[in-house]
Amino acid sequence: MKISRSRCLILSFIFLYGLVPEVTADVEEASDGLHTPQEPIWLTDISATEELINAAEVAIIGFFQDLEIPIVSVFRSMTQQFQDISFGISNSSELLTHYNITRNSICLFRQVDNEKLNLDVEEIENLDAAKLSRFIQMNNLHWVTEYSPLVAAGLFSTMIQTHLLLMMNKASPEYEESVLRYQKAAKLFQGQILFVLVDSGRGENRKVISYFKLKESQLPALAIYETVDDKWDTLPITEVNVEKVRDFCDGFQKGMLLRDHKAEEDAGKEEL
Ligand SMILES: *[C@@H]1O[C@H](CO)[C@@H](O)[C@H](O)[C@H]1NC(C)=O
Ligand SMILES: *[C@@H]1O[C@H](CO)[C@@H](O)[C@H](O)[C@H]1NC(C)=O
Repeated sequence: MKISRSRCLILSFIFLYGLVPEVTADVEEASDGLHTPQEPIWLTDISATEELINAAEVAIIGFFQDLEIPIVSVFRSMTQQFQDISFGISNSSELLTHYNITRNSICLFRQVDNEKLNLDVEEIENLDAAKLSRFIQMNNLHWVTEYSPLVAAGLFSTMIQTHLLLMMNKASPEYEESVLRYQKAAKLFQGQILFVLVDSGRGENRKVISYFKLKESQLPALAIYETVDDKWDTLPITEVNVEKVRDFCDGFQKGMLLRDHKAEEDAGKEEL
């Protein structure tokens, strides 16, 4: 019991704090970016808003009664940093009423777990670009989300307690095809398992890979874990396909473990 608790804490520690400085560097790079300027979509009616939300893995809508407040321009500037998110903005009283918004707020709608997160008026009053960007990065969960320490914090704050990692080098020739199949499998487990990609080509991700006792030579590999206890398992794979991923997830959900952690720990002790 004690052991599993501490393991779990170590896991969250690695995920949450291990690499934060490097992520900060990334954010700065992204905001220098040479992206084409973009604007949030101006929303005036419910059907267009529903359409935007339903078409996007992640949609963020700013509902503002007053468009002159400072957060509005901060909000608008986010579109350039997050190209994989659909942004909308509205001041229509019909829309605000429909979404139960009584004061200015920013809402994030997410398909992968059917979640709606809300930053309401008190929270957005103190928001600057860095804080809003952090909130979005943390909660920008897709069918397949690329791992970063901020995203890890977001994963741990969802209701979904089982997470699957595909550890693979994004530079490998099989990458594109593999991720398409991995994404297909992700849709079979909506609301049950969050699917994450860990780019093994990034040096700072080595900690995550070695946490699961995997070696570079065993990749690509799947790792699955539960956030509430010490249960985890891994499976090195030569090819990512929907059936293999599905069977691995099904097995784990049924309590089957392919790796014998106990035996590994005993072997580890003997070595010492
Ligand atoms: C919404 O903003 C537009 C443009 O600034 C303005 O003309 C309009 O009156 C506003 N509508 C409401 C309901 O405040
Ligand atoms: C608004 O609130 C009502 C009552 O709590 C709820 O039934 C409805 O689903 C909410 N609308 C949206 C769009 O969340």
